[in-house]
Amino acid sequence: MESLILKIQNYKQEIDATIVSDANAVEEFRIKWLGTKGILKSIMGEMRNVAAEQKKEAGQMLNDFKLFVEERFESYQSIKSNITQENINQIDWSLPGSPIPIGSRHPLSVVRNKIVSIFQRLGFAIAEGPEIEDDWHNFGAMNLPEDHPARDMQDTFYISQNPSWLLRTHTSSVQARVMENQKPPIRVICPGRVYRNETISARAHCFFHQVEGLYIDENVSFADLKQTLYFFVQEMFGKDVKVRFRPSYFPFTEPSAEMDISCLICESKGCNVCKHTGWVEILGSGMVHPKVLENFGIDSNKYTGFAFGMGVERICQLKYQVNDLRLYSQNDVRFLKQFTGLV
Ligand code: PHE
Repeated sequence: MESLILKIQNYKQEIDATIVSDANAVEEFRIKWLGTKGILKSIMGEMRNVAAEQKKEAGQMLNDFKLFVEERFESYQSIKSNITQENINQIDWSLPGSPIPIGSRHPLSVVRNKIVSIFQRLGFAIAEGPEIEDDWHNFGAMNLPEDHPARDMQDTFYISQNPSWLLRTHTSSVQARVMENQKPPIRVICPGRVYRNETISARAHCFFHQVEGLYIDENVSFADLKQTLYFFVQEMFGKDVKVRFRPSYFPFTEPSAEMDISCLICESKGCNVCKHTGWVEILGSGMVHPKVLENFGIDSNKYTGFAFGMGVERICQLKYQVNDLRLYSQNDVRFLKQFTGLV
């Protein structure tokens, strides 16, 4: 048994050291290792000398070695074409080459790009902000009071070395960054990753993606908000999709509303995704709270605005029927391949 282990080790080293660079060498390799009188055959024969209680282990080892040799031989197949100076003129260079597999865009990027480009056509500019934020931009400036439950450690990831930093829990923090640096009129769309301390399951993840919108100017009304979002839904999902607004609450908007669209998975017949209601929530929205405007020195008597924030995963789920949030971050090529060709 000992000598068998040693032999296999030496053979592996020998194979690794062998340089195979042309078709003749490939054939030599085959005869030497895999031929009827080859080394593999003969070493297999040594099973006879192995003690009965070691046969299982030895068998496994020999099998592994066999696979090793076969794989190596397989990897030499491409060398076989054997282009030489003599035959180079007989080769048909116009034949198509072997296809090179191309990558594909991640479904979340595809959907984010679609969302962003719809708003760009309406004159929104892209704005981005940091994923590591401070309390002020993520919470304080957005009118989230000190004791708001969202600030709880249970929902928010704080940076352990410096707890005044956190991972942003929503892209509304980018609203704050924009208002800090720009004067109205403001029209921005802010795509980005956000983090919440959730147990990972098919329906929840500790990070996901949002696209935030912010529009501030004179005379901006709730009707503008509705019309903008109607336009978005029609462009994204087609003209047949129904839309409804439900009153809601966010500290940074007043009034606030959540928007639902008719369930595209079951055509509103009722399914798991719409929890048998026929409707799926896709975003939160509202008129920017005067306090938020004042936090950035924007005169709330002169200016009004609307804001919205939508989940990219949710929109992707409705568009491409992805039913498990974990699929987005597992990098399973079988999943990702299905989106090849989408931009
Ligand atoms: N920030 C909110 C969320 O994460 C969404 C939202 C954005 C609501 C803008 C209103 C206005 O749920």
